[in-house]
Amino acid sequence: MTDTQNDPATACPADPTAPALRLHDVPDWLYLLREFEALYRHGSAGGARAIRSHRKRVRDTLSAIIDANPELTFRDPHAKPVTAHLGRALDRGERGAVAGLSRALSRVAGALTWEYGYEKVPKALARKYAYCEVLGPRGPVKAERLILGFVLFAPATTYPQHSHKEIEESYISVSGDWSENEVAVHAPGSLILNRPGDEHRITTAELDPCLLAYAWVGAESSLAAPGMKLTATRKARMASGI
Ligand SMILES: [Fe+2]
Repeated sequence: MTDTQNDPATACPADPTAPALRLHDVPDWLYLLREFEALYRHGSAGGARAIRSHRKRVRDTLSAIIDANPELTFRDPHAKPVTAHLGRALDRGERGAVAGLSRALSRVAGALTWEYGYEKVPKALARKYAYCEVLGPRGPVKAERLILGFVLFAPATTYPQHSHKEIEESYISVSGDWSENEVAVHAPGSLILNRPGDEHRITTAELDPCLLAYAWVGAESSLAAPGMKLTATRKARMASGI
């Protein structure tokens, strides 16, 4: 299957000779991005200036992308072991504070490409985590200055310490409870900001999966090759159960 596209009814790769689809041709993807935009527009910054400006940067960039009606290029849908937990995460998400985004994601779930993002993913983590991008340089919605996606964790996961070079990242909880650096518990609707270089390590609750939406903003060159740096030593990972 190629990157060319598409069948607007299913938002799945179809006839490679068909003209490129654009965002406004595929309502489920347009509504998904509008849900994202609404979260960054209406949510609170909790009085934090850095979060307020990050929210504004994400929603202004996203609004401009939606208005420009970008091309959609789908890769093949791909599952990972953790996506067996996606149904449960979406079910719980639909009862929570971020229900709109959870429902909108469930509408496009069959077209998502889940991946790891590392050449060598730690063996234990391979069964417990995956992410999918919905907007960015690699698509499906093409954009150069913003990446939006979702990361899914199985219950009782520890995602090792890492940082993002020259990329500002926010996570918004969609479903499940989790902690970053063991300093607070975040529930659906919470936003956490990681500035470039900030070290962070994620742990998730024992009984249910955790689904987070994320946004990355940064220079085009950084987003085109977002090197993710795992910083925990092997010994530290073993100690934390990875
Ligand atoms: Fe991160």
